[in-house]
Amino acid sequence: MQLSKEDLTIFNEIEKIREEIKAQRLPIILKDYGAGDPEDNRDEKQMYEGVEKSTNSFDLCSIGLKNEWAQKLYFLVKENKPKRLLELGTCCGFSSIYMSKANKNSTIFTVEGDCNVAKLASNNIKKANCSNIKQYIGKFQDILADVLEEIAFIDFAFIDGHHDKDATIKYFHQIKPFLTENAIVVFDDISWSEGMKEAWEIIKKDSSIERVEDLQKLGICYINKG
Ligand SMILES: C[S@@+](CC[C@H](N)C(=O)[O-])C[C@H]1O[C@@H](n2cnc3c(N)ncnc32)[C@H](O)[C@@H]1O
Repeated sequence: MQLSKEDLTIFNEIEKIREEIKAQRLPIILKDYGAGDPEDNRDEKQMYEGVEKSTNSFDLCSIGLKNEWAQKLYFLVKENKPKRLLELGTCCGFSSIYMSKANKNSTIFTVEGDCNVAKLASNNIKKANCSNIKQYIGKFQDILADVLEEIAFIDFAFIDGHHDKDATIKYFHQIKPFLTENAIVVFDDISWSEGMKEAWEIIKKDSSIERVEDLQKLGICYINKG
């Protein structure tokens, strides 16, 4: 898809919000849920309970999709026009904002474990004037089942949190029954660790997937339930 003047304006506006909040260097205390860094080798209990961290808005807003990756997500949504989108891992809200701007006739349901991080995301979402993003605060392990029941069907899922092999495979299977016939599921960080590489190798062979795009960082699955 050709990059239009309107797309460029949208990208610049989103990145301006990111730069403003980064420059403020707001102190944030958070619980870091999920796998942490690849060398952390956290066990299930540590991933569930999280690790307390003291950080700031500069470091936090540097996490997540940026530049060509954020734009790839944007164009996937713009081209395929999914109506109901699920995101695991809101962080500061920027990937939600990219998806929201790509299809204003959609609803983005996004889940984040840490309440202080979710609050920062909420402020960014307000600044970006996105009224089609619904935030949920809670651990995926605790609330995903209820969130899925509420959404009922999903045209597009972006899995960008808890980069652990077993957890990633589990979330895919948990989400699968709720996917519409030609849904798209995007995984971030498929080469981030040996575990994530193994998860991707397993997931991409699932019988519900017609075609995958392996971009080393993003793994895109085109579902065909027909
Ligand atoms: C890589 S960041 C998401 C970045 C965001 N999607 C973006 O591109 O702007 C992952 C987020 O997932 C959250 N997370 C990780 N494991 C989680 C879990 N088990 N339950 C809830 N949130 C979790 C973390 O708190 C973190 O904010």
